Amino acid sequence: MLIKIHKSSDCTASQITPESIYLSRRSVLGGSLAGLAVAGLPRIGVASEASRYADVEPGKAPAWFTDKLASTRWGAVTVKGEAITPYKDATHYNNFYEFGPDKGDPAANAGSLKTEPWSVVIDGEVGKPGRYALEDLVKPSQFEERVYRLRCVEAWSMVIPWLGFSLAELLKRVEPTSKARYVRFETLKDPKSMPGQRSSFGLIDWPYVEGLRLDEAMNPLALLAVGMYGRELPNQNGAPLRLVLPWKYGFKSIKSIVRISLVEQPPQTTWQGLAPTEYGFYANVNPTVDHPRWSQARERRLPSGLFSPNVRNTELFNGYAEEVAGLYEGMDLRKNY
Ligand code: MTE
Repeated sequence: MLIKIHKSSDCTASQITPESIYLSRRSVLGGSLAGLAVAGLPRIGVASEASRYADVEPGKAPAWFTDKLASTRWGAVTVKGEAITPYKDATHYNNFYEFGPDKGDPAANAGSLKTEPWSVVIDGEVGKPGRYALEDLVKPSQFEERVYRLRCVEAWSMVIPWLGFSLAELLKRVEPTSKARYVRFETLKDPKSMPGQRSSFGLIDWPYVEGLRLDEAMNPLALLAVGMYGRELPNQNGAPLRLVLPWKYGFKSIKSIVRISLVEQPPQTTWQGLAPTEYGFYANVNPTVDHPRWSQARERRLPSGLFSPNVRNTELFNGYAEEVAGLYEGMDLRKNY
């Protein structure tokens, strides 16, 4: 993201496709999330869930994951008229600095991440703090497949079918106290398995940290993902548990989470700490608020090549204004970037 000066990727004039030949613009089905629920993909049986996506090999999922597939609400949220990004792109063009700075590094290096056993500490202002084994945390949750747009602050985007459960539902279960105002998330810190954390050139003060206001975290769109494309998450995409916040720039969607803390004060987040004038706490997708070094008005929808550019207009809140604009009523989005 952005420690190095950004290259030509940010929608150079030569890459910009005339408006008339953009791929069809998306429109979210219905309005509210409730309206979106159960869009009704046919159930095709557990054994072949992975084959919903022709280009996807089944993974080696643990039982806590496969046991859930029969009751998963497939296609619970989707986008209309926008192609799902090929699995190969979604899993080989990644940002996961713990495994290196280049887009191919996570796929090449994340095999060293040990995702079983995995536990998550939930602490701070909650009635039920503790260290929860991932399988226990997941067991009471309703799995849903949600197809969301992912817009990176670097001005590329994808459309990804995530599998996961509602963050709000988990937070309610651990009973936030009346003092809880923010949620702080932390990624695993393990230099042994994460080569990027061993690099002496790195600027990041590990572990990677992200945060939300509690009401943002309780928004029905906020998802804790454990899978994508009908299978468990590949390591490079944040296995075994990551956040997905489709209305915010991708850096808010923290990967490989080991700690969730309910806190009174806004947490200091990784990118805000590194470059506060470039990356704000809110990081809501906004085509009218440019990054200091590049425009946010447009985005490259991957795959997008030099000779077949796929550039489209960026939408406010990444197209999810109806669901989230109320969270920011009366706020100056230019100041609160
Ligand atoms: N989480 C951690 N722990 N480390 C990271 O480097 N990169 C973020 C986010 N979550 C990152 C992270 C950024 S910049 C983006 S755009 C998304 O992950 C990318 O998710 P993807 O690789 O699954 O597309």
